Amino acid sequence: MAESNRTASFTLDGKSHELPVLSPTEGPDVVDIRKLYSNADVFTYDPGFTSTAACESAITFIDGDEGVLLHRGYPIGQLAEKSHYLEVCYLLLYGELPSADKLETFETTVTRHTMIHEQMHNFFRGFRRDAHPMATMVGVVGAMSAFYHDSTDINDSWQREVASFRLIAKMPTIAAMAYKYSIGQPFIYPRNDLDYAANFLNMCFSVPSERYDVDPILARAMDRIFTLHADHEQNASTSTVRLASSSGANPFACIAAGIACLWGPAHGGANQACLEMLRQIGTVDRIPEFIARAKDKDDPFRLMGFGHRVYKNFDPRATVMKQSADEVLELLGIEDNPTLQVAKELEKQALADPYFAEKKLFPNVDFYSGIILEAMGFPTSMFTPIFALSRTVGWISQWKEQLSDPALKIGRPRQLYTGAAQRDYVDVENR
Ligand code: SDX
Repeated sequence: MAESNRTASFTLDGKSHELPVLSPTEGPDVVDIRKLYSNADVFTYDPGFTSTAACESAITFIDGDEGVLLHRGYPIGQLAEKSHYLEVCYLLLYGELPSADKLETFETTVTRHTMIHEQMHNFFRGFRRDAHPMATMVGVVGAMSAFYHDSTDINDSWQREVASFRLIAKMPTIAAMAYKYSIGQPFIYPRNDLDYAANFLNMCFSVPSERYDVDPILARAMDRIFTLHADHEQNASTSTVRLASSSGANPFACIAAGIACLWGPAHGGANQACLEMLRQIGTVDRIPEFIARAKDKDDPFRLMGFGHRVYKNFDPRATVMKQSADEVLELLGIEDNPTLQVAKELEKQALADPYFAEKKLFPNVDFYSGIILEAMGFPTSMFTPIFALSRTVGWISQWKEQLSDPALKIGRPRQLYTGAAQRDYVDVENR
């Protein structure tokens, strides 16, 4: 813990209280309120956690004002350009970039965990074909607890390692199977001769009846999308995983909880909602109408893919994603894609509008990702499963970090109670 010799003091009902101030490597100082209730008999109130550090972590740092995102100190732009997803997984999990030997061992280990238990195939057949793939993923990932009993004991460090490998390795297989099931095509088994991203594309787009060769440029773009979504500090789904894990729940149940939280349109579901919004706008001439709606307090409509709790500047991931969108669509010969044109003009008009400038609303990671994924051939229903697949390493890294914290306690927030004061029961005949 980053102790400092400074304190914060406040006075309540004439009584003065002192609270320690903790200093981080980067970012704002932290007022340590762990003893506030016992010393001052008061709670703090912060329902959206806008001013609350819920944990200590060394994995990811975000500076929202400067548009900075670091994974174990390395800027996301450098990792997206120079690294690849499994190397970023190693970095997030173990804290350092691996040597060539360690990277090869890690990649081989993950590759050899990509198949799921054959009996798990039956779970998919219990869903309707038109079930949203996120519903399928929540169910199947939760069900992993029923198949991998040798990696559910969170107190066994080796079982924690195996659960990490299994989840990182099997999420693409489960996501691809959810997709294949939804379109009535046969499941495609993982191939150990393909890298992580190419294997996922093959499991999604190949069919047994003909040869399918993964385009290496699309595989690279897919891998970059995985990297851009890998981890993001204490976002809603990561906080969900941490809270679930604090009760001692097994890793598969915790990750299933994270998937459920990510599904919301205010969070990971925004990539699907954003593309649907761009399609609804349809043409550039309708953009002013939708910007006006986004600014109207009486209209619940918001620009999906815009705004962020932390970034009050450009989301650095959106910058990389926008470049990737240009590359992929040019490669596919659809650079004049109408959806991309609407997105670029919408971004331009919104950023020129005082409302968005004053509220510091910029495109986030979800604004351009859907355009790339649609161009690759994915339906919008697969956008958030791909986000979940990518974020699994972040959830797992944060889960492992929390379990190794000797100060770990079950997460149990209190409340500001505004309900009825105590009163006596009234018999029904007297009501
Ligand atoms: C992700 O936390 C993470 O790190 C998440 C994530 C990750 O990697 O894990 O980055 C992934 O979830 C990205 C965000 C994806 N969601 C969307 O794109 C949905 C659209 N965005 C909004 O719903 C919103 O911006 C949030 C949910 C992202 C952030 O909401 P906050 O921080 O609670 O901010 P807020 O709702 O209080 O908004 C502040 C003001 C409000 O106006 P006032 O009440 O002050 O007058 O800005 C307005 C909002 O109405 N506003 C928007 C807007 N987003 C906020 N107005 C129009 N369009 C928007 N998109």
